Amino acid sequence: MNNINTIVMVDDSSLQLQLYGQILKALPNVSGLPFTSPLLALEWCEKNEPDLMLVDYNMPELDGLEFVKRFRALKAKTPVPVVVVTSELDKDVRRNALELGADDFVSKPVDAAELRTRVRNMLRVREHGRMLADHAAWLTEEVGRATASLLDRECETIYRLTRASEHRDNDTGDHIIRIGLYAAKVAALLGMSTEEQDLLRLATPMHDIGKVGTPDNILLKSCELTTAEWDVMKLHSVAGYDILRDSESVLLQKGAEIALSHHERFDGTGYPFGLAGEQIPISGRIAAICDVFDALLSKRPYKRPWPLGRVMEYIDGQSGLHFDPRIVVAFKEVLPELLEIRTRYSGVEPEDVEDTIDGNKIA
Ligand SMILES: [Fe+2]
Ligand SMILES: [Fe+2]
Repeated sequence: MNNINTIVMVDDSSLQLQLYGQILKALPNVSGLPFTSPLLALEWCEKNEPDLMLVDYNMPELDGLEFVKRFRALKAKTPVPVVVVTSELDKDVRRNALELGADDFVSKPVDAAELRTRVRNMLRVREHGRMLADHAAWLTEEVGRATASLLDRECETIYRLTRASEHRDNDTGDHIIRIGLYAAKVAALLGMSTEEQDLLRLATPMHDIGKVGTPDNILLKSCELTTAEWDVMKLHSVAGYDILRDSESVLLQKGAEIALSHHERFDGTGYPFGLAGEQIPISGRIAAICDVFDALLSKRPYKRPWPLGRVMEYIDGQSGLHFDPRIVVAFKEVLPELLEIRTRYSGVEPEDVEDTIDGNKIA
């Protein structure tokens, strides 16, 4: 123990206090602080942190038991040892004192060696208590750090796998970052919690993960797909769900939900199930509008980027058809922030192509 330990000594007799002071002087790193008034001692303890309390049992202002009770109420969170000095040998008195929070007793008249030993032992207990508390705080911090790091790794792994799945038709990887950020903004405006916003930010990028199973000749085709090819393309939503489902990760569960539902349409004409309105999970309804918005503004193997005005006209026209009208309103309200995101995360686009296919073909 290198720090000075403050021992608050409480006794109505100043002579007795002097005696304690003399006895404790022999201990290293100890400083005695005398109080003849227990009330003043409690007042001091309110603003300061003692290391040990040495309290007389018989005091006119406040007896030792009442003192211990009030002191424990005051310092409920810090386990400061309390030693009661008493000539009482009555077992009930001692048991009461223990129940109220006393840790040890010293008998009166005080034996110097006994007092020093008990004080030293109690200070050791105090020191161990402090070390345990420090260790517990350190452990909590470490566990928090490790959990955050695991979560970061999980997010990074998901991002990289998602990017791999997008690599063939969207080689910059920015689309998947943007779509997650858009979804979180729209979710915020819809009043969803910050946890849900975060979940959508991280899970929406997985919407097209099922495209890993879509053949190149269909995925990269630069002209209109045949009905048969289109049927193959549509399989990517169920394929994505199959890849992500049954995970214990909340993030992957949300990814599975979005993969399965991001091509449903509000009017019930989407795929894979033709769900309508609120039957479609809100995550899927949000992903749908964010995905179409970003894809229309971008170059694709089959289309040029559309100007913003045409994109917003299209989105308006699809309110109640492809998109949930409530989400269209929210989307338009956060449009300036979405455009900022688009500017911040826009890498090199694939080379220019003929604009042959309209926005309905976004898969
Ligand atoms: Fe997409
Ligand atoms: Fe898709």
